[in-house]
Amino acid sequence: MHYLAIKGKQKLFGSVNISGAKNSVLPLLASTLISNKKICISNAPEVADVKTFIKLLENLGATCSFEKNIVNIDSTTVTSSCANYDIVRKMRASILVLGPLLVRFGHCEVSLPGGCAIGQRPIDLHLKALEQMGAEIEIKQGYVVAKAPKGLKGCTIIFDKVTVTGSENILMAASLAHGSTKLVNVAKEPEVVQLCEVLQDAGIKIEGIGTSQLIIHGTGGKLLDMKDVEVIPDRIEAGTYLCAGAITKSKITLNKVNPKHLEAVTLKLEEMGFGIKTTDDSITILPAEKIFPSDIETSEYPGFPTDLQAQFMALCTQAKGTSIIDERLFENRFMHVSELTRMGASIKLKGHSATVEGKGKLNGADVMATDLRASSALILAALVADGVTKIHRIYHLDRGYENLEGKFSKLGAKIERLEE
Ligand code: EPZ
Repeated sequence: MHYLAIKGKQKLFGSVNISGAKNSVLPLLASTLISNKKICISNAPEVADVKTFIKLLENLGATCSFEKNIVNIDSTTVTSSCANYDIVRKMRASILVLGPLLVRFGHCEVSLPGGCAIGQRPIDLHLKALEQMGAEIEIKQGYVVAKAPKGLKGCTIIFDKVTVTGSENILMAASLAHGSTKLVNVAKEPEVVQLCEVLQDAGIKIEGIGTSQLIIHGTGGKLLDMKDVEVIPDRIEAGTYLCAGAITKSKITLNKVNPKHLEAVTLKLEEMGFGIKTTDDSITILPAEKIFPSDIETSEYPGFPTDLQAQFMALCTQAKGTSIIDERLFENRFMHVSELTRMGASIKLKGHSATVEGKGKLNGADVMATDLRASSALILAALVADGVTKIHRIYHLDRGYENLEGKFSKLGAKIERLEE
């Protein structure tokens, strides 16, 4: 096992290239299951979750190559429709094969993903929508067993809650359904929009892209003529690096990023006293003279992203005053609090709310990564802490951040990946 050793109090400088969005490439990989041809997905980040998803598709029979951020994948060779537990348990996003496998084969078995560090992560909304479209769903020995021998039927589906992968699963299922499907309260994340655009480029008529209401006109089972696609920039990776510039009071520039996808985040940074300059594909952050505290409430896009809550909490430890952070999407997304506290942060939890006293001083310590985004918050705290911080269990980080220590070293951080 490896750990990261980070020496704090180092200013950052220069620029960093943002990679493709993990949470976009995963549904795009799933969508190849309903393609009638091999496709090329470029700007795909070389992170563990992408490699895991490719392994899942290969286990189903797909043929794939992945090098230098380019995935060439042919899922027309897929013969199995059973996604087994040992891969699905590693990555919840595996549930994204449920909709495509069902409409392609008329039946499938997908292991229940199970919960994770940030919450129970149910998939009831995915299953309810598929049943409304005519699927027979059973849970048997920890597997979702779904049947739709005559295909799925378009209908109106109102999601009780906004669900990103739920929206993506049903979008792909509706693309091959008989007739039209109206989705209400659908997620508007840029990753969902990219999937809509890829399906539209493949010949699916979709109305309302980018809004919370979509109408998808299905092909009645005919596979799609999918085109090659370039993955959009990772807005969460970008937000993490903006927080790195902010917490170290450095001026840094992010390249290959889409500032429009980060408006809630850059606005929050400006409220906290930081300067933000943007071009079409770059963001520069300028140091704050005084870091103001901030109240943050996570919500679905275009609101403040839950995937940046932990990173902003680390930043709020450096503000002059008290910040309140409300986590509205997940019931247990405060795993980073105990580790930040061990570094000297003063954070009080009450239900889904955290009160962060901006004390400024943090001390290097041995800390434990618990989930992908909590781990990146520990890196941010380590960048500003006195002394050296060792972050253990960094396999969590490798799930979603490409070339992490390479990018941070290029920005001037003193960071090393060492053997336990
Ligand atoms: C996606 O997860 C992202 N993952 C998550 O990013 C992100 O945190 C989350 O959306 C919210 O933005 C991918 O895109 C691969 P949800 P997802 O379904 O789709 C409840 C990261 O760090 N819900 O939008 O699993 C659920 O419990 C990851 O990159 C149900 O109740 O999240 C949660 O409270 C972490 N029933 C809320 O909805 C359901 O059937 C939002 O979950 C589905 C969801």
